[in-house]
Amino acid sequence: MIKDYLKRTGSEKWALGHFNFSEDEALRAIVESAAELKAPVFIGTSEGESKHIGLKEAVYLVKAFREEFNIPIFLNADHTKSFENVVAAVDAGYDAILADFSALPFEENIKLTKQSVEYAKSKNPDIIVEGELGYVRGESKLQKEIIEVKPEDLTKPEEAGQFVRETGVDMLAPAVGNIHGIAANTPKLDFKRIADIKKAVGSEIYLVLHGGSGMSESDFKNAIDAGISMVHINTEIRVAFTKTLRKTLEKMPEETTPYKILTPSVEAMKKVIEEKLKIFGSVNKI
Ligand code: G3H
Ligand code: ZN
Repeated sequence: MIKDYLKRTGSEKWALGHFNFSEDEALRAIVESAAELKAPVFIGTSEGESKHIGLKEAVYLVKAFREEFNIPIFLNADHTKSFENVVAAVDAGYDAILADFSALPFEENIKLTKQSVEYAKSKNPDIIVEGELGYVRGESKLQKEIIEVKPEDLTKPEEAGQFVRETGVDMLAPAVGNIHGIAANTPKLDFKRIADIKKAVGSEIYLVLHGGSGMSESDFKNAIDAGISMVHINTEIRVAFTKTLRKTLEKMPEETTPYKILTPSVEAMKKVIEEKLKIFGSVNKI
């Protein structure tokens, strides 16, 4: 099922949206947006986000939303940086895992990613495993400083080919000029490198663009054209949530009912998510 959508991204030239959550409000915003626009989506929790909501809780919440809305939504353990946490997410029932050992030397990255693929597929043959190669700087927050991408951060197409062949991953997150979060500078994507990496990994391995917050519409379109199948967005959702919440609290200083304070934030997050889904071309793909 997930593979069918991934295949279509390649042949029909669109991308799946991947949006992060750590509480019910963001999850509801993602699912309602996807349902309204008939867009299949990935929903992710980073290690910090799943620590907050709980791995099992995330699995069952997504299951409940999937049943209630009857749409294809897939839960991904985003940026999982230890084999122990890969095992925990697989065992909890996640649909997909990003085994992220990109901070380690190339050979070590291959070894641990391969080990993660083998474990994940032995427990669930349908699970999707993503690996990461290269260095994507920054964090999913508003960063005041300039984040400079160095030439040595970037993924080399020939290494990407070797990496996917030796690890057995289904998807690859490359470093192609992208940064996590919103910084003082705007990222400059290397579209030629995306196309070269896609060529090196082949049509059956899907490329994931991380750090989507702060990128322009033409960045997304050119990246999809060059071979990107999925785009991750987190910071813009976090900013919409907190900015709106701060305003609501100011406007309603006497209000004590949590859902009344939180509802405007859900609407603000939905606006961001729907705008992205339209740009990614994933509307009406269910
Ligand atoms: O894995 C998460 C994403 O890459 C989020 O990046 O916070 O820049 O949108 P972002
Ligand atoms: Zn990321």
